[in-house]
Amino acid sequence: MADIYVNSSGGAYDVVVESGAWDRAASVIAEKTAPSKVMIITDTNVASAQGARIDALKESMLCDTSSFVMPAGERYKTLTTLGGIMSAMVEAGLDRRSAVLAVGGGVVGDVAGFAAAVYMRGIDVYQFPTTLLAMVDSSVGGKTAVDLPEGKNLVGAFKSPRGVFADTTVLETLNEREILCGLAESAKYGIILDKGYFEYLKANAGVATEKECLDRQVCRCVELKRDIVARDEFEGGVRALLNYGHTVGHALEVLGGFERFRHGEAVSVGMVTAALVAEEIGFGEKGLASEAAEYLSALNLPTAMGSDMDAGDIIDVMRRDKKNLGGSLRMALPRAIGEGEVVSDVPVSAVKSAIMKHKSLYG
Ligand code: GLY
Repeated sequence: MADIYVNSSGGAYDVVVESGAWDRAASVIAEKTAPSKVMIITDTNVASAQGARIDALKESMLCDTSSFVMPAGERYKTLTTLGGIMSAMVEAGLDRRSAVLAVGGGVVGDVAGFAAAVYMRGIDVYQFPTTLLAMVDSSVGGKTAVDLPEGKNLVGAFKSPRGVFADTTVLETLNEREILCGLAESAKYGIILDKGYFEYLKANAGVATEKECLDRQVCRCVELKRDIVARDEFEGGVRALLNYGHTVGHALEVLGGFERFRHGEAVSVGMVTAALVAEEIGFGEKGLASEAAEYLSALNLPTAMGSDMDAGDIIDVMRRDKKNLGGSLRMALPRAIGEGEVVSDVPVSAVKSAIMKHKSLYG
């Protein structure tokens, strides 16, 4: 369907968006870097849902392969898991010409990408996203990390993949909640970057999970991300727009103990709050939050944060977010649909009022 070319300081790469993309991977990888060996890194959920596909991928490789299966879930995105991967890499005899194939969602992509970034001071990584969220966002752009007990993604590196293979037929095994999380990230691109894309999403809300629409979403989101990363790979400025909905969303994830909200669900709620913040400080057009909320609700994504969520607690977690500089609140805010800016020094009082308003309007 599409090979989307992404430029990066670590070298240019293609994001292959196509049914059967994994079948092409072996020859693309052999041509691109001819690795001495590859290690497939995945998690227990993906290994059971995509076992046959992973076996086929492994068999198709034109070099020695090994596998590492990490336990599934954000709580295993740790230095301990990373250490286990490093030891397995040594044991499997990976050298500086070897490569990692990260097969999974955002967590696997982050840990495996970081493992590739630091093993022997850096080896190649290819991303095989198995969730919609990873296809539209996390597998592209080179952010990798593990969490510390003190916070999410606190140790990591920018490590561009040498290739990304996104095949939406892989999504057939995902449950509805997982697909919805990806649709929230997809909506993010429309609301903060591309009005035309948001119009497309609204017009196609009823078929958002059908293959043709999913393919269009993956292609458009990757193109939009490619353009942002080309301008600001290391998030000195404009890339932070992709954090729209994430500052409040992250606080909700933390306060919900990473059980109550999945990442995409928290982002869905956070996008509505951020739109309310934009309206509150007079930066964004009136009606932005309701337009975003209407689309998200039409998809069945959550817009309510819960009456027990305390504005003070949310703001405390937001202040600790590493994306804030010097303790002030920095948020990606929409000015209008499809047009956003990263605003530093957002007044805490405005965030507090927006949260109160959010709770009264959306729960
Ligand atoms: N997920 C946001 C970024 O890659 O910058």
